[in-house]
Amino acid sequence: MRDDTRASNTGANQSLYIEFDAHTPPLRFLCAGFKDALLYANGEQYSVMLTPINLAHTYTTRSSIPDVNPAEHAIIPAPKSIRHQPGYFVLSPTTPLLAVDTQALPAAQWLSNELIRLYPDADIALDPRHQDAMTGDHAIILRPLPDTVLRDIEHRDEAYQLTVTDQGVVIQACTDRGFIHGCASLLQLCQEEETRLRLPAIKISDAPRFGYRGMMLDCARHFHSVDTVKRLINQLAYFKFNTFHWHLTDDEGWRLEIKALPELTRYGSQRGPNTRLAPQFSHIAERHEGYYRQEEVRDVIEYAAARGITVIPEIDIPGHCRAAIKALPDWLHDTNDRSTYRSVQHYTDNVLSPALDGTYRFLDTVLSEVAELFPASWVHIGADEVPDGVWTDSPVCRDRRAHGETTASLQGQILTYAEQKLRALGKRMVGWEEVQHGDKVSKNTVIYSWQSEEAALHCAQHGFDVILTPGQTTYLDMVQDYAATEPGLDWAGVTPLEKAYQYEPLASLASDDPARDHMLGVQCALWSELITNQDRLDYMVFPSLPPLQKQHGAKANAVIGSITWPG
Ligand code: ACM
Repeated sequence: MRDDTRASNTGANQSLYIEFDAHTPPLRFLCAGFKDALLYANGEQYSVMLTPINLAHTYTTRSSIPDVNPAEHAIIPAPKSIRHQPGYFVLSPTTPLLAVDTQALPAAQWLSNELIRLYPDADIALDPRHQDAMTGDHAIILRPLPDTVLRDIEHRDEAYQLTVTDQGVVIQACTDRGFIHGCASLLQLCQEEETRLRLPAIKISDAPRFGYRGMMLDCARHFHSVDTVKRLINQLAYFKFNTFHWHLTDDEGWRLEIKALPELTRYGSQRGPNTRLAPQFSHIAERHEGYYRQEEVRDVIEYAAARGITVIPEIDIPGHCRAAIKALPDWLHDTNDRSTYRSVQHYTDNVLSPALDGTYRFLDTVLSEVAELFPASWVHIGADEVPDGVWTDSPVCRDRRAHGETTASLQGQILTYAEQKLRALGKRMVGWEEVQHGDKVSKNTVIYSWQSEEAALHCAQHGFDVILTPGQTTYLDMVQDYAATEPGLDWAGVTPLEKAYQYEPLASLASDDPARDHMLGVQCALWSELITNQDRLDYMVFPSLPPLQKQHGAKANAVIGSITWPG
């Protein structure tokens, strides 16, 4: 909101009146107003009292949850096949927890930890053990799923069967992930009866509908502690997500230790008074800071792996790079470039230059460390929202334009370099929708399509593999109701819970359309401009996250019933 500012000193009561005109679409939510303000005068800093924004266009609509019958047992996402039976298995302090397959040990450990954490007063003492024998009386047994069962199952590596009778529990799978999913269903089924835990008799056969099921967390706009990140990853495991996409860098913060370039975190991880990055979003009189040391990253990766979750890092280039540019001006600031541009977030200096050697040295150094640190085979390179007007007044880029290059193809030059570098490091490059603008990157690049499903389809029809993450339904930072007080942003719309449930990926695409083969999965995302604390993060994530996990096309009735959110 910097478009037009008028100020007049009223004199009599010494107050200052400031009026802003912003050329935006109609504002409907109080969150659209200023979050925080400071006044600097004569070298002094004065706090400012903010009144709520005066909204002229609030919605009168309210969301309403449709009337549906409760499910007998609420499991989210709804399993492929579920058969209820009479009776219960009651856990006791002597119930053995046996992993017949060593691949099942992490899942058994997770199950034990979670039951003890969630039900500290329960009469249980689950101590996971490896055992060769296939049976055990009144036990919870994790054992291999026979090949004959798996033969015709799509995404069989994540399939599982869960059988509960009054005699015991059997979870069968063929990978560590399959066992985790079986344990996740068991955790959702668990019922507390005074100090006893019981499980309803049931038979579940389940396998994912999409091979990729992700959640992105932005840790750049506001930093989230390792504990917060782990807490979320643990929750993702309950809902059978298999990917955590870690947005580590952006204009307002660089959050990943790069040992060869300590400046990146020394200067790029702090913003506020007396730092290189101007205050933003919240608490602007204070310094906001934080980054992840490499040993912390390894710890998070290991924690996630023990829950069947792969961690994909995102280093967002060439736009959204203000923190990096301010931290490493000698490498990344092009003093010859007089271009004027303004990014969606109003920055005029946040794009890497294809004309600088430093850009490529930066990419070599950062991507080499990232590739070594993260075992995931994919690295997300961002590529979103490079503003119009960029590189138009850079002498080198002007020459290249004279030879037919456009802004998109210049961006493509940087991204092709990154792609080749990543390939040499054994990684596949993935990026936001705009990564294929300029037609330079290879079809091996995976596209995260965020602007619409039509855009996803367009990319798939052009031969790219795609992850669906349409902002209109899967962006968890969008408001969840029409009330003006509802927290969140609304540029992509309002996403009430029923919309999250009703979102059916690729609903309009014929079942035999070849583009379907390119649709690898679905992801939801939480951008953190407004996420200043754990409560706000939880508020935005739940209850929408589980139904957005379109593993099996969860139905609305699966949510009704008692589900304990894993705290
Ligand atoms: C994005 O939302 N800019 C990927």
